[in-house]
Amino acid sequence: MKIELAHGKTGKTLLTVDVTKEDSILDVKKKHIKEKTHLYPSRICYKLSLKDKALTDDVKIGDIETLTDGSVLYFKDLGPQIGWATVFIAEYTGPIFAYLIFYFSRNCSWIYPDSEGAPHNTVQNLACACYVGHYIKRVLETIFIHRFSKGTMPIGNLFKNCTYYWGFSSLISYFINHPLYTVPSTETQVYVGLSIYFFGELGNLSTHLAFKNMRPAGSKVRVIPKPNGNPFCALFNLVSCPNYTYEVLSWVGYAVMTQTFFSGLFALVGGAQMLQWALGKHRNYKKEFKDYPKNRKAMIPFIM
Ligand SMILES: NC(=O)c1ccc[n+]([C@@H]2O[C@H](COP(=O)([O-])OP(=O)(O)OC[C@H]3O[C@@H](n4cnc5c(N)ncnc54)[C@H](OP(=O)(O)O)[C@@H]3O)[C@@H](O)[C@H]2O)c1
Repeated sequence: MKIELAHGKTGKTLLTVDVTKEDSILDVKKKHIKEKTHLYPSRICYKLSLKDKALTDDVKIGDIETLTDGSVLYFKDLGPQIGWATVFIAEYTGPIFAYLIFYFSRNCSWIYPDSEGAPHNTVQNLACACYVGHYIKRVLETIFIHRFSKGTMPIGNLFKNCTYYWGFSSLISYFINHPLYTVPSTETQVYVGLSIYFFGELGNLSTHLAFKNMRPAGSKVRVIPKPNGNPFCALFNLVSCPNYTYEVLSWVGYAVMTQTFFSGLFALVGGAQMLQWALGKHRNYKKEFKDYPKNRKAMIPFIM
């Protein structure tokens, strides 16, 4: 049978392709690429209507009930793509260098003109270890733990995300390592903050390992997240995205421990962003799984 590939914005027919019921969306993309050689599969998106979700590569033409001879698939060019792992590693190694530049610049008079080269205090050392440790953990998780379902993302996200992570890391580090930096007034505050930070990190790692084990290697399977034996993963009973809950908790702990404006702002902005994503993921779970647990919230237990 024949299907038309139309431009998503203008509705203009771009191409008519011959397909069989056994062909997958990926096969349609390959036929499309033969005609438009600047494209590649991960750059192409097809939808049944402009309101529908993108069709994934593995979907078979025969399995799409509404697709018959002469039907239209709406095409969108997603623009140049870059591998997720590359993006994540660029996003996460940058903050390590950005943070360390200021940590090691105590004696650099054009960065800190008032510095007399005094050694770092305990909070500054802890703050550096926690910050750098967090991003080393993320790089290692990206390489060894996460099983992403999408291979690529638009290259524009790389610049946006790197600006966000590198920018915040520089600001946080500049002020924490500043010679005029004042530590919190009590040691209790520092160690309460540090404990919250570690609790959040362990919880975050635990949920990432749980997500890994929910998806068989090499597959794109998405299941209803469930707790495993790990006590940190019990949070899956209350929220859809406990990894975000724990990540926010880490940064709240970091802000309590360091008590600077930018570490607080980072926890706030990151928290708001993750809440927005969590609400979207939660909505998708409820749409996708009819038996999705009713009492579960998106990211904040019992609230939202
Ligand atoms: N500080 C910040 O501003 C900030 C912002 C964002 C993220 N982060 C950190 O980076 C981590 C990763 O972020 P993310 O947005 O990629 O998290 P995510 O969407 O929750 O995904 C984490 C991994 O788990 C997989 N996964 C998610 N739900 C699954 C399910 N139901 N079944 C099987 N696998 C599933 C994901 O695969 P898919 O590819 O299929 O989604 C991905 O490989 C976060 O947990 C957080 O610690 C920090």
